[in-house]
Amino acid sequence: MSAPSLFAPSERAAMDAALAAALEGRRGANPLVGAVILSVEGEQLATGYHRGAGTAHAEADAIFEAQRQGIDINGTTMVVTLEPCNHVGRTGPCAQAIIDAGIAKVIYAVDDPHDPAAGGARTLRAAGVDVTSGLRFDEALDLNRDWFDAVAAKRPFVTLHIAQTLDSRIAAVDGTSQWISSAESLADNHALRRLIDAILVGTGTVLIDNPRLTARTPDGELSQRQPIRAVMGLRDVPEQAAVRGTDHLFRHLPTRDPAEALHLLFEEGVRHVMVEGGSSILSTFLAAGLVDELIVYLAPTLLGSGTPALNDLGIGTLADAQHWAWDEASGGPVRTLGNDLRLHLRPAGRASNTTKNSIPQTRVASHGEAAEYVTGGH
Ligand SMILES: NC(=O)c1ccc[n+]([C@@H]2O[C@H](COP(=O)([O-])OP(=O)(O)OC[C@H]3O[C@@H](n4cnc5c(N)ncnc54)[C@H](OP(=O)(O)O)[C@@H]3O)[C@@H](O)[C@H]2O)c1
Repeated sequence: MSAPSLFAPSERAAMDAALAAALEGRRGANPLVGAVILSVEGEQLATGYHRGAGTAHAEADAIFEAQRQGIDINGTTMVVTLEPCNHVGRTGPCAQAIIDAGIAKVIYAVDDPHDPAAGGARTLRAAGVDVTSGLRFDEALDLNRDWFDAVAAKRPFVTLHIAQTLDSRIAAVDGTSQWISSAESLADNHALRRLIDAILVGTGTVLIDNPRLTARTPDGELSQRQPIRAVMGLRDVPEQAAVRGTDHLFRHLPTRDPAEALHLLFEEGVRHVMVEGGSSILSTFLAAGLVDELIVYLAPTLLGSGTPALNDLGIGTLADAQHWAWDEASGGPVRTLGNDLRLHLRPAGRASNTTKNSIPQTRVASHGEAAEYVTGGH
């Protein structure tokens, strides 16, 4: 006979809704998070999710949504996929927003491993809020598995971008590569450039294409927020290279080691990097298992020859193939952009460094399909 559940059916349903809402967000420097506010009777009053770094956190988004609808949330329950944060980043601390809103109970799935943000549960308890965790722990851990790994490794979250033809070419024999993708794909890429902290290419791309690597609007204007422009490789970057620009955002990373390049960027405060190529750099990050998210713009074009998207990944037999899973987050697994397809994937079956032991949780009960944990140490 199994132990009685810690959580009511309405709380379980709310956590499922919060997990689904989280997928509406965009992967990157911050985790995907969803939140649902439940009435005392168990009715779902408002839902929120996090749209990416610099925007409202899921809890605040759900509170705004309830306020927008004129719903009184005093005495309600907040069900959220990640421990509410405790720190003042680009947005205020969620724990305080929950306390200020008069929410009486918080159920969250998994602890926030991020040191400056952790501790929200403690703050909530100190303010008299009833706090429980562990509901849908496995699902919430899997939702952000690669983000947890990046945080644990103290490296940025890595998105790898490939703009390729149907036959996996990123440039023609003569080196021309602009523009393989449609204008819509280009606009999508530039929208992402506005959100990331750094964009990274190899010296080869700089010497062949002389790209600017800036974030631009569809009319070619510079976006207000610009990523660091990083070039990796041992050769010098020419003084006249466009990537140097006139601001202070250019960085030359004199290394061929992808882990070292990420370390150098992390030291500068970079938490989300987009690797844009060419083939050598794309391959070196993939071979090292250092890619958390893969975005492929697939143009319905054939070249037959030219630069392949990838070189050797060190795979000699099918059993060693890298497997990728379609990712529902960040706009979904497959979208049409102009004439192109935008494919969105995450690593499948990568041995996660984030084990339940690295997050201080204590397993208390197992009910059917999902194990439940409560937090230790808060
Ligand atoms: N379609 C697209 O989205 C896209 C995007 C980017 C580039 N491209 C195309 O890709 C082509 C360039 O490819 P590419 O492979 O020459 O460029 P790359 O990957 O940008 O740069 C290669 C260079 O990076 C350095 N490097 C740093 N770490 C390395 C490592 N671990 N392994 C190997 N090299 C490392 C090496 O130069 P050092 O000797 O300086 O260390 C190497 O020659 C161009 O034709 C460009 O048009 C296409």
